[in-house]
Amino acid sequence: MIKAAVVGGSGFIGGELARLLSRHPKISLEAITSRQLAGQKVADTHPFLRGYIDLTFSESITGHGLDVVFLATPHGASMKLVPEIASSGAKVIDLSGDYRLKDPQVYKEWYGHEHTDLENLGRAVYGLNELYWDEIAEADFVSNPGCYPTCSTLGLAPLFANGLVEGGVFIDAKSGTSGAGAELTKATHHPMCGASVNPYKVGRHRHSPEIAQTLTLLQGHPAEVVFTPHLIPVVRGMLCTMYLKLNDDLTKQDLLEMYAEFFRRKRFVRMTEVPWMQAVIGSNHCEIGLDVVGNRNVVVMSAIDNLVKGGAGQAVQNCNAVFGWPEETGLDFPGLGV
Ligand SMILES: NC(=O)c1ccc[n+]([C@@H]2O[C@H](COP(=O)([O-])OP(=O)(O)OC[C@H]3O[C@@H](n4cnc5c(N)ncnc54)[C@H](OP(=O)(O)O)[C@@H]3O)[C@@H](O)[C@H]2O)c1
Repeated sequence: MIKAAVVGGSGFIGGELARLLSRHPKISLEAITSRQLAGQKVADTHPFLRGYIDLTFSESITGHGLDVVFLATPHGASMKLVPEIASSGAKVIDLSGDYRLKDPQVYKEWYGHEHTDLENLGRAVYGLNELYWDEIAEADFVSNPGCYPTCSTLGLAPLFANGLVEGGVFIDAKSGTSGAGAELTKATHHPMCGASVNPYKVGRHRHSPEIAQTLTLLQGHPAEVVFTPHLIPVVRGMLCTMYLKLNDDLTKQDLLEMYAEFFRRKRFVRMTEVPWMQAVIGSNHCEIGLDVVGNRNVVVMSAIDNLVKGGAGQAVQNCNAVFGWPEETGLDFPGLGV
């Protein structure tokens, strides 16, 4: 068994990581941190872990001889913590936005402050697992993608990688409220969002440049992305509906065959006529469907659980790659259904 710790364990992603790691056959969870809840039982904050995790929150992770550390901390906090953890020799998987954007100027523009850890920024491997497995398998430090970028980029990758997109892409994205974390905010307060669908951060969400960065790399020239996220009245789950124009006359069948080839042997991507968010909730799966409508217009739909494939699940999948285990290790279970 390898030894793991979660930093930022009292939040939604930290709890989800603990849930997945508690049943992982090759990982022993040794420590979970929370500065505010240090000394309290983890299962008191995350009752679903009763009988599975008997740890108390600690302030630090030192003294455990760790092999891997998952950081479930906010952006800005991660880049202060990573240098010391990485120098301890442990592999690091960071779930924040701190190491996803490769250009520090772009990071500053979208996150509003300077990047203070350029050394680790330079060596971080972007952990969009289905696209970069080989690079992740060689990495000591993985930057886990954002939830919206995971959902949308998986749906779009075959089209951009095959150079089939004329112009840019419009992404209409919907997320459950757990995407905003455990901290209370007015926007995620139940009366504000529990019976409504609310667009937010139109044209200025930090996941826009992250999506554009990957699509640009895939097609080899700048990708234009118009991304509008919405909060919907569910807790988990995310669905992106994406619109673009093809630069060639291809049928739906042509595209389905291309997608099947692109995601061949990828355990967690499944093609379906119409993705159903509820079918992936609680699981690490991504469901993708598409259609060709009228004159070269394509609609792609993609669904994930933001906390699993969009966060903790993909982090475990990346950990599996780093340690050379099959991608589904500890993750091979279906969604909830209803
Ligand atoms: N929610 C999602 O769907 C989702 C999906 C993908 C990625 N992510 C990313 O994953 C990270 C965690 O998200 P979340 O939703 O779990 O957030 P959250 O619920 O707000 O939890 C944040 C955690 O970080 C700890 N923390 C905060 N500041 C810290 C600091 N300076 N040093 C050490 N620990 C600190 C908090 O505990 P204490 O304050 O007690 O230490 C808490 O345990 C974020 O970067 C987020 O963007 C989230």
